[in-house]
Amino acid sequence: MSAILKVDGISKRFRGLVAVDRLSFDVPEGGIFAVIGPNGAGKTTLFNMIAGVYTPDNGTITFAGDRIDGLPPNEVAQRGIGRTFQIVRPFPALTVEENVVIGALMRRTSVTDARTHAHEVLRRLDLYDKRAQRASSLTLPDRKRLEVARSLATDPRLLLLDEVMAGLRPTETDRIVSILKELNQTGLTILLIEHVMRAVMALAGRILVLHHGAAITEGVPTEVVRNQAVIDSYLGAEDI
Ligand SMILES: Nc1ncnc2c1ncn2[C@@H]1O[C@H](COP(=O)(O)OP(=O)(O)O)[C@@H](O)[C@H]1O
Ligand SMILES: [Mg+2]
Repeated sequence: MSAILKVDGISKRFRGLVAVDRLSFDVPEGGIFAVIGPNGAGKTTLFNMIAGVYTPDNGTITFAGDRIDGLPPNEVAQRGIGRTFQIVRPFPALTVEENVVIGALMRRTSVTDARTHAHEVLRRLDLYDKRAQRASSLTLPDRKRLEVARSLATDPRLLLLDEVMAGLRPTETDRIVSILKELNQTGLTILLIEHVMRAVMALAGRILVLHHGAAITEGVPTEVVRNQAVIDSYLGAEDI
């Protein structure tokens, strides 16, 4: 499989702190690629560089053959990268449907078309029956799925998911896992930051382990969870 996203030697420093340190990896088109690692490892900073929130201090990011490092977030989104935020932030006073319509309007000028597309996305995310509720009234699992729906409504080729399963019960985690598998089967490439190993193991074709901004290892899940450095820095024996 060819790479849809190529990250080559990127770094990001905040004053003295090196948050991401000369990191390189490729995300295969059509795959599900997971990034794991302890808090503070640099995972969200990595997403922020891909999504255009930060410009890398060094290195390049290539999406679908074109350099995207340094482009502003709206341009990155237009090119086909959707992202969720670790802290979910829908517009609380708007309805579930309105939140998703806003995403759909990125590529549509007609509100009717945007609403039709939003309904399709809401059905996929098991939120259609709640479309008239205010976003602020949703439970955490529903808010997390709304976050995915808002991003999906922009028709991304690559979806960046930042801890969308954090704080969920196993049944809710499994529900998102099966939704993400279905989306992936329709051709969507997924890059996932996740602490919930149950979900990572069920979804990821490859896993990259970050520690202090650098990759400790990258490989298929069965290899990565047996890697001693990964066990020592992150997993602990009980997770395996
Ligand atoms: N905007 C920022 N300014 C200063 N330091 C930051 C900023 N964003 C992240 N950091 C620091 O960079 C490191 C990596 O953070 P982050 O990427 O959020 O890690 P993770 O998502 O893996 O928990 C942490 O030490 C964090 O405090
Ligand atoms: Mg984070």
